[in-house]
This record gives sequence, C-alpha cells and structure tokens, in this order.
Amino acid sequence: MAQRTITLRRPDDWHLHLRDGEEMRSVLGHTAQVFGRALIMPNLKPPVRQTCDALNYRRRILQALEAMPKYGYFNPLMTIYLTDDTSITDIVIAAASEHVLAAKLYPANATTNSAAGVTDIGKLDPVFGAMEKNGLVLSIHGETLKNDQGEIDIFDREASFIETLDSIIERHPDLRIVVEHVTTRKMVEFVQAAGPNVAATITAHHLLFNRNALFKGGIRPHHYCLPVLKREEDRQALLAAATSGSPGFFLGTDSAPHARDTKEAACGCAGCYTAHAALPLYAEAFDAAGALDRLEGFASHFGADFYRLPRNRGTVTLIQKPWTVPKTYPFDKEALVPLRAGEEVLWQVED
Ligand code: NCD
Ligand code: ZN
Repeated sequence: MAQRTITLRRPDDWHLHLRDGEEMRSVLGHTAQVFGRALIMPNLKPPVRQTCDALNYRRRILQALEAMPKYGYFNPLMTIYLTDDTSITDIVIAAASEHVLAAKLYPANATTNSAAGVTDIGKLDPVFGAMEKNGLVLSIHGETLKNDQGEIDIFDREASFIETLDSIIERHPDLRIVVEHVTTRKMVEFVQAAGPNVAATITAHHLLFNRNALFKGGIRPHHYCLPVLKREEDRQALLAAATSGSPGFFLGTDSAPHARDTKEAACGCAGCYTAHAALPLYAEAFDAAGALDRLEGFASHFGADFYRLPRNRGTVTLIQKPWTVPKTYPFDKEALVPLRAGEEVLWQVED
C-alpha cells in the first residue's frame, strides 16, 4: 500500500521556548529543520525585557544557525517580557522593530521563569493602550492565580482569566491579542466569540492528551506543563477549534525544554518538549479527527495572517511512517526527555 503523504506550505511555530547558550544550540535544529519562523518566548533568566535584549538574543540564535547551513531560511521572531516597570517608550521602541512582534504578559509566578511577571494587570493599562496604538501584539499566558477568595484551583486558572481578558478587550478593542496555549472549552468559546483581533495558539500535547496522562500508572512529570492538561471534554473542544478552519486558532508548540533532573524531581519543572516531533504530533491529532486537510491552514496560514506577515514560501511533506522517538536528546551537558520518549510517532517530515 502506498504511504500516505501530505504536503503543506512551510509552517511556523507561534510559541516556542529556545532557552539560550548551549541549551539553545542543543534544541534549535529540531525547530529550524521544519519551521520557517518561530516566535521566541522571552522567559530567560533574566527575562528579555527590552528590544535591545531581544535583538541581542536574536543575534545569538542566528549565530547558532550558522552551524546549520541547511536551515538558513529559519527566521526567529522575538517577544519582549512585560513587567510592572514596562514603559510606553519600551513599547514604542519594540513596535518599531521588524524583529519584535509581540509583548508577552506573564501574570507573576504563573509559570516557569515568570517571577518578574506582572503583579497588577490593571496598572498596565497605559502600556496596553500604547500597544494598541502602535500595533504591537499582546501575547498572554492566560491564568489567574488568586482572587478575593484566595488561591484558585490549578484546573480553573485559565477559565478564571476570562474576566481579566474581557476587560482588556473592552478597554482596547483594537489591541491584537493571542491567548497562548489555550487548554479549556471555556477559553476556546471565549476566543471564538471575541472577534478578529483575538486569536489563540494550541499545543500538540493539549490536542493529544487529557489530564489522565499526568497520572497514568504513576506520576508522569514529562506530561506536566502549564497551563496543566485538562479534561477530555476540553481536549475535544481544542481539537474541534484547531480543525475547524477558523483563522483564530493556529500552531504554537510551547515546546519547553528542561533538563531531565529538573523534571524528574520532588518538585519538577513545568514544560513539555515537543520540538523534535512537532509537526508529526499535530498530524496525528488532526488525522485522528479525520481533518488532515485542515492542518495547513492551522500550521502555515492563520498565524502569519494574524501577525500580518507573508506566508512562507516552500513546502514540507509529511509521510505516515512510524518512527521511535529517542529516550533522550542531549541538552547542553544534560539530557532532555522528549514527549513520547521511547515510543512511536506515526508521521515524519520528509528530509
Ligand atoms: C514554559 C517554560 O518552561 O518556559 N513551561 C510550560 O509549562 N509551558 C513556560 C510557559 O509557557 O508557561
Ligand atoms: Zn510557553
């Protein structure tokens, strides 16, 4: 029987953690061999707060790419990290750079390296106004940690953020917003109803797993990410949105590498590494939903259109040919355990 294949315009990853230095060099090729562009998250230690920091980080990525001449087409696109001290001038400068596409809002302590994030979102209102006026996209980690009643249940943190999001949109209707890595039916429905200035990225792991994957036969640290995996009904809603053909939902892997020891620990880090198999994992999810023909819009069109960039030229071809994921990949001097380590992925990208 002939192998099934599908050819797509070269895709983009609109949410990626690359880290820095040797760690970045360890993982960069996985993304650059498939994706034309990726939006690089700014949660380094210390965070990438200013445009000059983002441009220096971009230069380090481009230098690392020089060792990978086959992937010379790869274009890293940058974000800056919003803090309580971000100024209107910071926004004006960022918006003027062709390489900085978005400012990222992390509620303080919501996730990995977010201690310097925003403590009072209301106080950032003038900054959102400057973003709206200057056309800089607001990229949001949409989780609320606490309210007047105290700490919010970890499974309810995304839904609790809807109120905050709604008030930002009401005050800034022309601000373009990406709700990153949506995980719940409630947030999907909110984004669908919010109009063309609000979009969302969806990860491959949230399309493939529900929260049972965290506890299957024992605790599974490599399935722990933030926002945490949710219920099956939420996964179904994500899958329906991703395969709907709606331009408001597009590919963002949130591939987040951590050294094995920091995940397999009494207090393990949040983040799933998926860059090694990103497009094949999405293909599995779309194929299981009988919607492989919808993958190209999600992976290669809608994100570029939302960020007002040309779609990539060139194509990639996926073949339905199972392969076994290595148990680890090198990560600087450590090892990193990828999603599906030691198990099969059904699709692969043709070389
Ligand atoms: C990300 C990381 O490790 O940087 N972790 C994660 O669980 N997704 C941060 C983030 O995007 O929340
Ligand atoms: Zn992320």
